Amino acid sequence: MVKFTIIGGNASSDLAKRIARRLKAPYIKTGKKIFPDGESKITINQIPKKSIVVVIQSTYPPVDSNLLELLSIVSKVRKFSSRVYTVIPYMGYARQDREFLDGEIITIGVVGKLLKASGVKKILTVDIHSKSALKELKIPSENVSAMEVLVKHFKKMKMKDPLVVSPDSGGQERAKKFAELLKTDFIALKKHRDRKTGKVNILSGKVDVKDRDLIIVDDMISTGGSIVKATKFLKKHECKRVFVACTHALLVNDATKKIKNAGVSQIISTNTIPGESAKVDVSKVISDALR
Ligand code: R5P
Repeated sequence: MVKFTIIGGNASSDLAKRIARRLKAPYIKTGKKIFPDGESKITINQIPKKSIVVVIQSTYPPVDSNLLELLSIVSKVRKFSSRVYTVIPYMGYARQDREFLDGEIITIGVVGKLLKASGVKKILTVDIHSKSALKELKIPSENVSAMEVLVKHFKKMKMKDPLVVSPDSGGQERAKKFAELLKTDFIALKKHRDRKTGKVNILSGKVDVKDRDLIIVDDMISTGGSIVKATKFLKKHECKRVFVACTHALLVNDATKKIKNAGVSQIISTNTIPGESAKVDVSKVISDALR
């Protein structure tokens, strides 16, 4: 049996504790203090020895601060253990995985270099935005899916003949898997995002959603723009209720309000990012992958 020690960063302490319990591994907590000038001071209570050290930290907002905290913890424990893994349940910067416009930087590649330089040997993510983001990290990496646990939650809701909807063609495979597990059908909308303004539009023509309850499935919600546009479009086509299932609910600024105002009945997300909608626990998915 591999001997793990789990360290929880401040952005993921609850999830890290759950993972430690499942793995029957010791849990080490970390401290964080923010100075008036914005610098953070990270402290670690205890230094693990003779084990595989797994540092768990999502990099949701404040993205750079949470990332720096992760890098700091890793660089400290790396001095005492040669086997330091990280679990980054929500991986920030994964959407910056290619040069969409001239002059853009593939920042997820920079994040990979930083993680490698601090001493990370292996990374585990949950529903990372794209396969190319995982590749750009250039460190042995694995991605696990939260779709099964999300579907389990929806099965308990006993919805009658729901239709699964992907808000864009990029999410088609995810929606297909979700629909298969839920034993129902799915459609994928066509979405366009203006790379300069960030505004989204739905380009699909007529869709057959009349009188059906819908579950929009996405990897993440940030501003809510994609979900709002998709919901308004689907409501025009006379669907019944709209639910949203996503792995990472960033819900920045007033995203929740905008989504509710658009007519969404409920947002269900996972605890890769803590929050009101985080009803689904991914600790089993992560600990099974670590074992
Ligand atoms: C895009 O391809 C992603 O899968 C999400 O749909 C998108 O990042 C969500 O962002 P927002 O909520 O700002 O529209």
